[in-house]
Amino acid sequence: MNKDNAIELKNKIDVNRLPKHIGIIMDGNGRWAKKRGLPRTAGHREGVKRVTEIVEAAYNLNVQYLSLYAFSTENWKRPKNEIETLMKLLIQYIDKEIEKIHNNNIKVQTMGDLSKLPLPVIKEVNRAVELTKNNTKMVLNIGLNYGGRDEIIRAVKNILDDFKLGKIKKEDINEENFKNYLYTKDIPDLDLLIRPSGELRLSNFMLYQVAYTEFWFSDIYWPDFKEKHLYQAIIDYQKRDRRFGGV
Ligand code: FPP
Repeated sequence: MNKDNAIELKNKIDVNRLPKHIGIIMDGNGRWAKKRGLPRTAGHREGVKRVTEIVEAAYNLNVQYLSLYAFSTENWKRPKNEIETLMKLLIQYIDKEIEKIHNNNIKVQTMGDLSKLPLPVIKEVNRAVELTKNNTKMVLNIGLNYGGRDEIIRAVKNILDDFKLGKIKKEDINEENFKNYLYTKDIPDLDLLIRPSGELRLSNFMLYQVAYTEFWFSDIYWPDFKEKHLYQAIIDYQKRDRRFGGV
């Protein structure tokens, strides 16, 4: 499919029924590289290029929230050099893109325990968050040392702290205000979750926020994921009948 097909697909999207919040589990970088006889890190490098393109495509469509799974709480099990490359790529991405992101009025947010990341990464991420904190066109929410279970456990601990301080009563805890204890407290639930690479699982991504999310899976590896795939996912999403438990 060439660029013209991408435009054709884009034109099929009903701009009045866009998913407000799209999440992407960017998977398949390693397999993409292996298929080409390249080191896994080459897949991550190519994957970053897709991050740039997909952020831009989502922004041009007026998607309001885009959540990307960049590094999970489980990814620490990977070889040291791969972790180091991922951290370097993150710094390079912010360094290269932050000016454009800021000029485009995009707010960068993160979810996950940043304190465990290398100091240069923390500094660069904080710089991006601070610089863009008042931007309003789109939120780019990046999962860094993020795990859905970890997020829920952290929420429970924070609720217990507030309980001890008398800030919250047991009977006050409900689905709505539980959200205030999540990393995504200012972000609506996910409407559409995209997972390329042929895996049909959640891998600990936004477990609380996917209760009524539409899933879109594809065999394409993340480094091959182009804007046309994003458009196709949105077109398919718009064909779904979302009932949220109703009829
Ligand atoms: C999964 O592919 C991908 C990751 C664990 C890292 C995703 C990170 C990036 C695309 C780059 C950095 C992010 C930003 C926001 C600049 P995999 O390695 O698990 O692939 P495999 O399943 O084929 O081995």
